[in-house]
Amino acid sequence: MEVIITSNYEEICEKATRIIHQAWKRKNNLVLGLATGKTPLGVYKKIVELYENGEMDFSQVVAFTLDEYLGLEENHPQSFAYYMEKNFYQHTNIKEENIFRLEGKPENIKTHCQEYEEKIKNLGGIDIQILGIGRNGHIGFNEPSSSLASRTRVKTLTRETIGDNARFFKNREDVPRFCLTMGIGTVMDAKMIILLASGKNKSEAVFKSIEGPVTAMVPASVLQLHPQVKIIIDEEASSLLTRKEYYKWVYQNKEKVKDFLE
Ligand code: PGA
Repeated sequence: MEVIITSNYEEICEKATRIIHQAWKRKNNLVLGLATGKTPLGVYKKIVELYENGEMDFSQVVAFTLDEYLGLEENHPQSFAYYMEKNFYQHTNIKEENIFRLEGKPENIKTHCQEYEEKIKNLGGIDIQILGIGRNGHIGFNEPSSSLASRTRVKTLTRETIGDNARFFKNREDVPRFCLTMGIGTVMDAKMIILLASGKNKSEAVFKSIEGPVTAMVPASVLQLHPQVKIIIDEEASSLLTRKEYYKWVYQNKEKVKDFLE
């Protein structure tokens, strides 16, 4: 696990964007797995800037959304399909046929989830999966106690997540109770995973995920078993880590030889 501690949110976004940009330079048909929520917004903004400045092109890029609320239409302002469109896709030249979404109202949930898994596989797998983290350690909508080997499926949201996400809806009652999400096993199949976290309210989940035991009760802790994970966090989110200075030292040294390592 590479733990990258930055001084602020802006720097988290810069670093994540740089990694994606570098990966795209090596592979123009990059397959991205994309999370929604507040945290990745700055990254998407910077990626769009790269496109606008002519530094990045999306004509061959493929994107998969990590999760979706069950019951919401694609054009519902709180659907993740809408979020991705509004904050990323519509500002780039990504092709519609290269955008894959979990549907809020699929005809057959099971078939839809299986087909999503197959699409990822048929396109060679996800190169970079972007993740946020819930206060309870969830990744995607894989809530605590989710199987660490799970695949794309329907899940019930916890009360805590419903409460956290109520800020995006008019009333708490409007937050859907069910969702579709890539499974933890699906996420773990990505070649590289970048987890972003900002702010003090994420510090406990970050601490448990990095320095705690691997447990289904903290889904993000499973990332300890992945060979290519970058956890990019700010000072506040890193405040409970006991080995903060060590992570910084490792990263500073690595930065000195980054061109060689990349
Ligand atoms: P946030 O959500 O980025 O809006 O904090 C993260 C998550 O719940 O995974």
